[in-house]
Amino acid sequence: MGFFKWVSPVVVLLYLVDSALVYSSSLSSNDLSKIPSELLDFAKAPVIVDWMVGIRRKLHENPELGYEEFKTSELIRAELDKMGVRYNYPVAVTGVVGFIGTGKPPFVALRADMDALPMQEMVEWEHKSKIPGKMHACGHDAHVTMLIGAAKILQEHHEELKFFLQGTVVLVFQPAEEGGGGAAKIVSAGALENVSAIFGLHVDPSIRIGEVASRSGPILAGSGIFEAVISGKGGHAAIPQHTIDPILAASNVIVSLQHLVSREADPLDSQVVTVAKFQGGGAFNVIPDSVTIGGSFRAFSKESFMQLRQRIVEVITGQAAVQRCNATIHFYTEERPFYPVTVNDKNLHGHFRKVAGDMLGIDNVCDKKPLMAAEDFAFYQQVVPGYFFFLGMQNETRKQLKSFHSPYFEINEDMFPYGAALHASLAVRYLLDFQPKDPLVEGKYHDEL
Ligand SMILES: *[C@@H]1O[C@H](CO)[C@@H](O)[C@H](O)[C@H]1NC(C)=O
Ligand SMILES: *[C@@H]1O[C@H](CO)[C@@H](O)[C@H](O)[C@H]1NC(C)=O
Ligand SMILES: *[C@@H]1O[C@H](CO)[C@@H](O)[C@H](O)[C@H]1NC(C)=O
Ligand SMILES: [Zn+2]
Ligand SMILES: [Zn+2]
Repeated sequence: MGFFKWVSPVVVLLYLVDSALVYSSSLSSNDLSKIPSELLDFAKAPVIVDWMVGIRRKLHENPELGYEEFKTSELIRAELDKMGVRYNYPVAVTGVVGFIGTGKPPFVALRADMDALPMQEMVEWEHKSKIPGKMHACGHDAHVTMLIGAAKILQEHHEELKFFLQGTVVLVFQPAEEGGGGAAKIVSAGALENVSAIFGLHVDPSIRIGEVASRSGPILAGSGIFEAVISGKGGHAAIPQHTIDPILAASNVIVSLQHLVSREADPLDSQVVTVAKFQGGGAFNVIPDSVTIGGSFRAFSKESFMQLRQRIVEVITGQAAVQRCNATIHFYTEERPFYPVTVNDKNLHGHFRKVAGDMLGIDNVCDKKPLMAAEDFAFYQQVVPGYFFFLGMQNETRKQLKSFHSPYFEINEDMFPYGAALHASLAVRYLLDFQPKDPLVEGKYHDEL
């Protein structure tokens, strides 16, 4: 394929000599704007699509939960080996971190999460999950596939890309997004040490295929879980005066928790407190000793989040005490770290709109309203500028796809070329656009001649 045939190496070298040129020279920016659609054309080749579909179906049949993604990781490494991509393993238990390019700065990272969910797939199809009680119901099988696809695009054009890949693309395959905070472990392992930006995507059944959506600033909430044991004194349902009823106390606790958002939060500062778990008693005529409640709380700023956390403790203990009960509260931050707010970098938003617009047409680059869902991608954004976006997969001529975490969740595999090519283009263009304006580059130009 005449890949990048439209850009002469001279233009590229000129470009590297003075990266400011790209904005002043319409020639080079025109040429660069063709990269995303060229990469999409390549990713749409039937042989590439079939290969990606094959990988995804294998992953879908063999879902693994957070920090148990051993087979998934093995499959990723086998594909990287076949392509000759260098990687580090293990990073954060099952994670794989690959490298494509010069091995030198700048470094730009692309991320995919690998874990599945503890739920039973209800979709009857040829490649249904083979593991009872486990399912890829959040599309992480598709995320892994599209990042492997991006690796293939970058690696197969290694020769042509020599002019473009003046830096290194870091491929981050991370464990345990669904609650386990795998991203935080990747960060502690130092994998982002020299990285100057990171991109991540999530499939989205509410967006049309061929469209993407995101926004600058906060896009997903900070999130935590809590659990409380409210203890009283059990006894006969007919003799309440000899008991301390934890069911009634827990009920009042739950009602009071609802007032945190409705009465204490700024109505324009979105927050959620949901009690999703209520366990206690088992008989019609026995007041139990204790009740366990639990749930999720979310906010769009660290201050609001920490305020909620503190008030959850105060309301549960205070309201339990009103009815003579004791309460103990756990946030389980060891196993389930609080996810920070996902905040998209403003400059990367501009970069994303440019690259995705060049590939899909700017009308297909949509604004996404913030969501109260959370993503551990936020841990990366705490250490480097990061950008998270949603990739459409709904084909309106077909049936409406079910939402995330549904046992009927399905992937539209036609989306894979878009995701793979977007990953690759965001990275390639980033390395070009964000080359350090370093006088030494001129020396390099002469050396290369
Ligand atoms: C980051 O760069 C420094 C200096 O070049 C190097 O010593 C270190 O190993 C790099 N870290 C990673 C994770 O690549
Ligand atoms: C609550 O804790 C106090 C102090 O440990 C204890 O004396 C009391 O019996 C407890 N009450 C219940 C209902 O468990
Ligand atoms: C949507 O589905 C139709 C019918 O299967 C197909 O012909 C078309 O190519 C699909 N569109 C995209 C963008 O994949
Ligand atoms: Zn999920
Ligand atoms: Zn997910």
